[in-house]
Amino acid sequence: MQTLRDLPALRAAVAALKRDGKPLALVPTMGALHDGHMALVEEARRHGRHVAVSIFVNPKQFGPNEDLDAYPRREAKDAQMLAAAAVDILWAPTVEVMYPVGFATNISVSGVSEGLDGAARPGHFDGVATVVTKLFNQVRPDVAIFGEKDYQQLAVIRRMVSDLDLPIEIIGMPTQRAEDGLALSSRNAYLSEEERKAALALPRALGEAKRQIEKGEPVEGALAKAITTLGQHGFDPVDYVTLCDAATLEPMTLLDRPARLLGAARLGRTRLIDNIAVDPA
Ligand code: PAJ
Repeated sequence: MQTLRDLPALRAAVAALKRDGKPLALVPTMGALHDGHMALVEEARRHGRHVAVSIFVNPKQFGPNEDLDAYPRREAKDAQMLAAAAVDILWAPTVEVMYPVGFATNISVSGVSEGLDGAARPGHFDGVATVVTKLFNQVRPDVAIFGEKDYQQLAVIRRMVSDLDLPIEIIGMPTQRAEDGLALSSRNAYLSEEERKAALALPRALGEAKRQIEKGEPVEGALAKAITTLGQHGFDPVDYVTLCDAATLEPMTLLDRPARLLGAARLGRTRLIDNIAVDPA
C-alpha cells in the first residue's frame, strides 16, 4: 500500500494503477477506522477492483461548536488495517493540500440536504459535498462506496453525482452493527460504559417504531413514542426521529411508499445517528 499526501504523487500512483484497465474504487473516510469502514473496503475490492481509501478529517463539515479537535485520529493503526486489507492507495492529504490559501468554492446541494442533519448541523452537507467532489476529482475513481449509516449523506451524494453528471458509480452499503445492534461509529469511542449501554435505546426505539408503522399504526404516534423512549434513556436533546421518503428524504406521515426512519440524538457529549428501512406491505 502506498500512502500519499500530495496531489502529484497521488496522480502518478493512480495512473500507474489504472494501466491494467481494472476499475478503481474509492472509499472516503475520516479515519479512526472500524469494521463498518472495513466492510466498505471489502465491497470496494469486489469484482477485482483496485482500492483507494482516503482519510481526511474535513474541517468544513464540522460546525463551530462541534468535535473537530476531539475527533479521533489514529492514522498509524488505520494504515495497518488498510494494508492488511490489501488496499492499494491510502490518500491522506493535509488541510493545506485540500484547502490551499485562497480556496473559495462551495458545493451546495439543495432539497435533500436541507432537513434532518442539514437543519441540525448548518453547513455540514456543503462541507461534505465540497470535500467529496474534491476527493472524486483528485482520485478519479470509477466507483465510490458510502455507508447507509449516514443515510442522508448518501442521498446528498447520489443527488450531486446525478446533477453534476459525475462519471462515478455510487454504491451504498448496509449499516454494520455491534452484536447488540448499535451502529458502529468512530464517535462511539466517546461513550462511557454506562452511555454505551444506554445508546442501544436508539436502534431499539427505531426498530420498535418501524414495527408499529409497518403494522399500520399512525406514524405520528409511533415517532412521538420513540422520542419519549429516547428521553427516558438519557438522550437530550433528541434532534429528530422522522419518517422520510427513502430517496428524496421528504417527511412522510403515511406509509404509502418505501421509507426510511431516521433518528439523531445526543447522549452526554456524543451525538448519535441511526436509520432503518420502513416498507409498505
Ligand atoms: P466517516 O464517518 O469516517 O465514514 C466514512 C464512510 O463509512 C461513510 O460512507 C460512512 O457512511 C461509512 N460508515 C461509517 N460507519 C458505518 C457503519 N457502521 N456501517 C456502514 N458504513 C459505515 O462519512 C464520513 O466519514 C465523511 O462525511 C466523508 C464522506 C468521508 C466526507 O468527509
